[in-house]
Amino acid sequence: MKIACLGGGPAGLYSAISIKLRDAAHDVTVFERNRPDDTFGWGVVFSNETFDNIAANDPASAQAIREHFAYWDDIAVHYRGQRIVSTGHGFSGIARKTLLLLLQERAKELGARLRFQTEIASAGELAKDYDLVIAADGLNSKTRNDFAHAFKPAIETRKNKFVWLGTRQKFDDAFTFIFEETEHGWVWAHAYQFDADTATFIVECSESVWRKFGFATMSQDESCRTCERIFERYLGGHRLMSNATHLRGSAWLNFPRVLCETWSHDNIVLMGDAAATAHFSVGSGTKLAMESAISMADYLASEPTLQAAFAKYEDARRTEVLRLQSAARNSLEWFEDVERYLHLDPVQFNYSLLTRSQRISHENLRLRDRDWLEGAEAWFQRLAGAGDNTIRRPMFAPFRLRDMRLKNRVVVSPMAQYKAVDGCPTDWHLVHYGERAKGGAALVCTEMTCVSPEGRITPGCTGMYSAEHERAWKRIVDFVHTETDAKICCQLGHSGAKGSTQLGWEEMDAPLKSGNWTVMAPSPVAWSERNQRARAMTRADMDRVREEFVAAAEMAARAGFDMLEIHCAHGYLLSSFITPLTNWRTDQYGGLLENRMHYPLEIFEAVRAVWPAEKPISVRISANDWVGTEGIEPQDAVRISRMLQEAGVDICDVSAGQTSLQARPVYGRMFQTPFSDRIRNETGMATMAVGNIYEPDHVNSILMAGRADLVCLARPHLANPYWTLHAAAKLGDRGEAWPPPYYAGRDQLYRLAGSTEPAPSAV
Ligand SMILES: Cc1cc2nc3c(=O)[nH]c(=O)nc-3n(C[C@H](O)[C@H](O)[C@H](O)COP(=O)(O)OP(=O)(O)OC[C@H]3O[C@@H](n4cnc5c(N)ncnc54)[C@H](O)[C@@H]3O)c2cc1C
Ligand SMILES: Cc1cc2nc3c(=O)[nH]c(=O)nc-3n(C[C@H](O)[C@H](O)[C@H](O)COP(=O)(O)O)c2cc1C
Repeated sequence: MKIACLGGGPAGLYSAISIKLRDAAHDVTVFERNRPDDTFGWGVVFSNETFDNIAANDPASAQAIREHFAYWDDIAVHYRGQRIVSTGHGFSGIARKTLLLLLQERAKELGARLRFQTEIASAGELAKDYDLVIAADGLNSKTRNDFAHAFKPAIETRKNKFVWLGTRQKFDDAFTFIFEETEHGWVWAHAYQFDADTATFIVECSESVWRKFGFATMSQDESCRTCERIFERYLGGHRLMSNATHLRGSAWLNFPRVLCETWSHDNIVLMGDAAATAHFSVGSGTKLAMESAISMADYLASEPTLQAAFAKYEDARRTEVLRLQSAARNSLEWFEDVERYLHLDPVQFNYSLLTRSQRISHENLRLRDRDWLEGAEAWFQRLAGAGDNTIRRPMFAPFRLRDMRLKNRVVVSPMAQYKAVDGCPTDWHLVHYGERAKGGAALVCTEMTCVSPEGRITPGCTGMYSAEHERAWKRIVDFVHTETDAKICCQLGHSGAKGSTQLGWEEMDAPLKSGNWTVMAPSPVAWSERNQRARAMTRADMDRVREEFVAAAEMAARAGFDMLEIHCAHGYLLSSFITPLTNWRTDQYGGLLENRMHYPLEIFEAVRAVWPAEKPISVRISANDWVGTEGIEPQDAVRISRMLQEAGVDICDVSAGQTSLQARPVYGRMFQTPFSDRIRNETGMATMAVGNIYEPDHVNSILMAGRADLVCLARPHLANPYWTLHAAAKLGDRGEAWPPPYYAGRDQLYRLAGSTEPAPSAV
């Protein structure tokens, strides 16, 4: 087969090598516009894992590359006058130029033709003379643009500015991040050694800082001198150098995130950066390019037709590319939002940086550097007031809200049971909440407990609007307090337009088959075409509902609850005041967000006035309506939280969605946690994270990175009331208290967990 590789970067060269290795009879030519030793950029990094795949594909080139590797295990972070070092990260670096020269040699050795200083004007024309064109023409691929109708590229230009520089200063002991506060704001560098005397030094900052420095109008030389001044303390008198002669101006770039709907068209296939990019902060662009080249060569050898090979190549590589791009997105977003984290203590800042892509979990960090992680855990426990020398996972750190002390950070999230009779909790609730309180979570939240019969979602919802309800709840609260050391929080709410619907396991949110009651809301909205249109609330209605909340809070106080949560999420009454999707009022309760918050805040203030001063109140919000700019977006949630914080709400329970049938949520592990992170770190308010958090590792990393103060788990607690005690047993933590009648079960579980870890102790 006659094959052209358009582009002599890692993707083009490694394609040529991999194809020749599988079938030397192929006639392969690499076309490169530059000279053999021309190259932009400085060094590239590989993780140890990356290199195994490459070594298996071609031991010869791998060996040659390896001989030129600079290795390091440590990551050092300079931040607020401290240098924090963690180890076990296992990276290697090589000069991009050396890498290309070695790949060129190997490709030639295997019989590929290399044509340098050859500009290819059109991949389409090339495709007429060759059976296969591998378009590896890089980030700004002309081929991708020429055939945009076929490849359907999506290119997202990211916010930050960066420039790829080099220096003779040594960074040979660690991959180094340097965060510097300047007169114009924060600027940071990613620095790593790649050969005996040169290191890559990528400088990055926000667009506004970049503008204030005037980088836009500087020459490359002026830009280097300015960066030298910023990082003077770390450069030991060495200069910063640019070799971006192929770029105009000061050579600063915005990273483009590239993804294409398809990677092949007729006999042309995209490879490397042309097909998909991964942000430099996860150091995987070259890895992606080389691994894709291996995959393409495999299928070219195994499949009967080009089209079959393309299909298999895409199939095999797309998931991996998306996985890496998702990690890269997390990482680049962390750098874009870094100013949010610049108030953090250096320990937490470092943890947040190391776990930014969410590929490195809490326990994975322990495998990398146990000492460092234990130091961080001890810091977390100390801050939480657990004593000076306690080393335990963050999920087992105490927490305090007003006078309520929680033994750990795990919360049973509110979950409707639909088992009440006329609003009254039954024995089901006693057993259900009792079990969860015995199961180890520090705080158990009740389901949405409704302030009036019309405020219920379904006929099975619990209420707090009669003396009988108060008595039934008191029985449950008394059990929790007498038999366990958990705290119990009553979630109070009103269903609004989402009321008068069927039980959760019948047809969720659908109207009752018979016996519907009238519903009300801020505006005359209907949840769906099938649901009744709500009556718009008058001021008299608003007064009445406020008094119902107050009465319910008084009953909850008498029942002995430790905490209240006001449900302002998920499209129920108070949530429907907050979101513009369902609040069309033209009075002081509609319009601007400040106005839409008036009524929920009025309810909070009225409830706060009767709720015991020593007990906390939280508010649950939907931090994203998931409908784009029409609805609440995360930045609005920050403003909402600020208003709650100013009103005296103790903690914000950050949920999302369920406010509109038009919502298009993006699900995934811990998918709502970024909203909690943003609120907590931009406002300083305490938060609870919730949503698809199910592993102890998730909980620990959320807490340790400062993305929330408490973590709510809902469905995991339906499946296993003892989630926390089991997590502790599995992790080898022996510090969580079990109910005495269950000691024998505990001991067996500990034995079966087989952990060799000692019980947590004061050391
Ligand atoms: C600041 C920065 C830091 C990075 N750091 C790392 C890192 O540490 N680790 C890592 O793995 N990756 C890193 N990358 C990414 C990495 O450089 C790319 O992902 C990788 O080079 C992709 O290889 P490629 O062959 O697809 O593209 P390229 O390396 O861009 O190669 C494309 C080649 O095609 C040639 N070409 C283009 N058009 C034509 C034409 N019409 N005719 C002839 N020739 C043409 C170009 O001259 C070029 O040589 C970094 C990127 C940046 C921007
Ligand atoms: C059966 C069930 C009932 C729920 N009822 C409530 C509720 O009454 N109040 C509330 O705020 N959230 C309620 N939720 C939402 C959960 O509290 C939680 O936010 C959501 O399930 C995501 O967490 P998870 O991924 O851990 O399940 C309910 C969830 C489930 C599964």
